[in-house]
Amino acid sequence: MFANPFKLKKLGILGMNKRNIYYIGAQNDRKYYPLVDNKLKTKVVAQNANIAVPKLLVTIERQSQLRNLAEMLTGLDKFVIKPAQGSGGKGILVIMKREGDEFIKPNGQRLGLKDIQRDISNIISGLYSLGGKPDVAMIETLVEFDPIFERYSYEGVPDIRVIIYKGYPAMAMLRCSTRESDGKANLHQGAVGVGIDMASGKSLSSVQHGKPITHHPDTGYDFLELEIPYWEKILTLAASCYEVTHLGYLGVDIVLDKNLGPLILELNARPGLAIQIANRIGAVKRYDVIDKQPEGLDISQRVKFSMNHFGTKQDT
Ligand SMILES: Nc1ncnc2c1ncn2[C@@H]1O[C@H](COP(=O)(O)OP(=O)(O)O)[C@@H](O)[C@H]1O
Ligand SMILES: [Mg+2]
Repeated sequence: MFANPFKLKKLGILGMNKRNIYYIGAQNDRKYYPLVDNKLKTKVVAQNANIAVPKLLVTIERQSQLRNLAEMLTGLDKFVIKPAQGSGGKGILVIMKREGDEFIKPNGQRLGLKDIQRDISNIISGLYSLGGKPDVAMIETLVEFDPIFERYSYEGVPDIRVIIYKGYPAMAMLRCSTRESDGKANLHQGAVGVGIDMASGKSLSSVQHGKPITHHPDTGYDFLELEIPYWEKILTLAASCYEVTHLGYLGVDIVLDKNLGPLILELNARPGLAIQIANRIGAVKRYDVIDKQPEGLDISQRVKFSMNHFGTKQDT
């Protein structure tokens, strides 16, 4: 279905070149990139706009601070360490619990303080940042996912990616972690992408490593039964990030915390194209529809428009 370039165009599949020129290049003013390329900045901006995010616990900027890591982690049993300027799940360490001196990862692997020091040292030295620039390590609260997703995610928090084009939700997928992805819901780490119907929040079709699958590889549950709760609320939260970032082409990642509800995990100015494969539909037709809409509609009007026009029954 996705092989022949002529067929791809007919299906309205957005490719890398067109995305870079007509969507990222044309819609996203470079001066707003730092806001989304740096997760610390994103947190501040989101909080100022009253958008909920996982709580920041500690930031580590210098190698010398690592001597005091044991004190910094006092009282923290479950947390996530990540590079402020990382992407694709690289350099992210999810710690589920602590047993004595050991820190336990989602896959059961046990780490000592020295292992964590080394990981943070790598983050600070820029191993995972764009262009290898020195970075900051941030430690935030572990999101405990809504039990609704228990069947569909293996030892990790699933996230909901929504593409917001000119403020309109255009396409969505749920990314579910697997044994292979080790607590992270990034497709390149081996997570499953599940296309989601814009009208209802119900699942459409799923892919892992670019190939169609029907059941979760570890839990065995059928993705077809999946339905995301609070769907309109989630789309509204995602669409509100347009006003906050001024980016016309934006990937918004949302997680559902069992106690706190929907949280913004991160924002992306260069969202990937695999969401089209998960949905088995090209994005271009939807972007063309949005291009014809009047500007200046408020968030709830835009969300209603997308739910009414981009449900699978409406797409041809
Ligand atoms: N605070 C957290 N609690 C639980 N899981 C998290 C947390 N932060 C990140 N993750 C997991 O790691 C994945 C990648 O994190 P993210 O912040 O989106 O960084 P990246 O830019 O590398 O994708 C998420 O999709 C999620 O599965
Ligand atoms: Mg992410």
